[in-house]
Amino acid sequence: MKWSSWIEVNLDSLAHNYKQLVSLTTAELCPVVKSDAYGHGAPVVVRFLHRLGAKLFAVSSVEEALTIRELSQAPLLLLTPPLHEQIPLVIKHRLIPTIESAEQVSLFERAADKHFPLPVHLKVDTGLGRLGIKPNDAVALGERIARSAKLQLAGVFTHFAEGSSSSRTARQLRTFLAVKEAFAQAGLNNLIWHAANSAAFCLGPHTHLDMVRIGTLLYGQGKGADELQLKETWALYAKVISVRRISAGSSVGYGGTYKAHRDMLVGVVPIGYSDGFTMEPQSTPAVQTARVVSRIVKGEKPQAFVDGQPVAVVGKAAMNLTILDLSAVPHPSPGLPVRLIARRASINRDLPKVYLKDGKPYCTWWNGRLYHPSAQPFDRTHSNLYDRVRML
Ligand SMILES: Cc1ncc(COP(=O)(O)O)c(C=O)c1O
Repeated sequence: MKWSSWIEVNLDSLAHNYKQLVSLTTAELCPVVKSDAYGHGAPVVVRFLHRLGAKLFAVSSVEEALTIRELSQAPLLLLTPPLHEQIPLVIKHRLIPTIESAEQVSLFERAADKHFPLPVHLKVDTGLGRLGIKPNDAVALGERIARSAKLQLAGVFTHFAEGSSSSRTARQLRTFLAVKEAFAQAGLNNLIWHAANSAAFCLGPHTHLDMVRIGTLLYGQGKGADELQLKETWALYAKVISVRRISAGSSVGYGGTYKAHRDMLVGVVPIGYSDGFTMEPQSTPAVQTARVVSRIVKGEKPQAFVDGQPVAVVGKAAMNLTILDLSAVPHPSPGLPVRLIARRASINRDLPKVYLKDGKPYCTWWNGRLYHPSAQPFDRTHSNLYDRVRML
């Protein structure tokens, strides 16, 4: 591996999670691939899961959808209504927009071209208070879309405000089912009704309806992940670029906030807060001890690992560099890989993503291109670039 920092995505685990979740519901599973598929690289994830049978994917914006179009023509549902000026792009790239007002219907009709009728989903606000038409106005909007020669009403959805079983979730579901009933009475049938995200999926089949929109669980995370035997799909790595000895009493990092309380061996990894790796600065031994205690009490997990063993971050994580205490690591030297814990959805999207299949590097997605796993960074000779269509 020639990258200095990279993300590893395990396609076998992703396939396992997808199949496992599909086996637990009679509803269609719509993978949510917004925020670069929660940091997994949306273009490759969509291409891969489309081959596994996923029929519809959910993204947040037109921009995200167009990035995916680099690799896949899979049907993409825009979870948010597009801006007026983006409507021509939605039509051109056959994206499935969310509609929440009659005005949007008119705008789409005016932009009509030979690609119509365009499938759309109608969003109902059952209590989140963010996007969607009010439940009482939903049937009228549904009828307006159904009358349009340019649009085809394909689905109706809502989104829950809470991640657990609560009276609020139950109320939202009841409201949504009442809307569904009203649509049926108005003769609006054969629609895909969907509401559940990962948390609602775990509440039971009564929330699943025709389709479930799943992100967190698909990527092996969230409350139900262990119970559902889902696997970890994502890991962030960086290699140590420098190792040094420091003596007790010397300070480390910006602001001198960290004072070594013993002789130490520290290493630097080329990753920092500009990559999305944020660390609380550690300061005096007393504060460090207090943090360790608080971590134990709160059950917080360590932030960095070498060969599965936790190593502490010392000082402040800087923009691009982080310092680690490698004193307990036998013979650390530059090139040593370190696994780091980070919030995957907010990780730097420019980091190369190395996809593993059958336990081996399979391909790398970087800078909008698909590379052979042994490719040198920046080497764009033909042999290093994969034929996208053949590979995935
Ligand atoms: C509208 C909508 N549906 C579904 C999801 C997927 O949620 P989760 O990651 O909990 O499965 C999201 C993500 O935030 C969302 O915004």
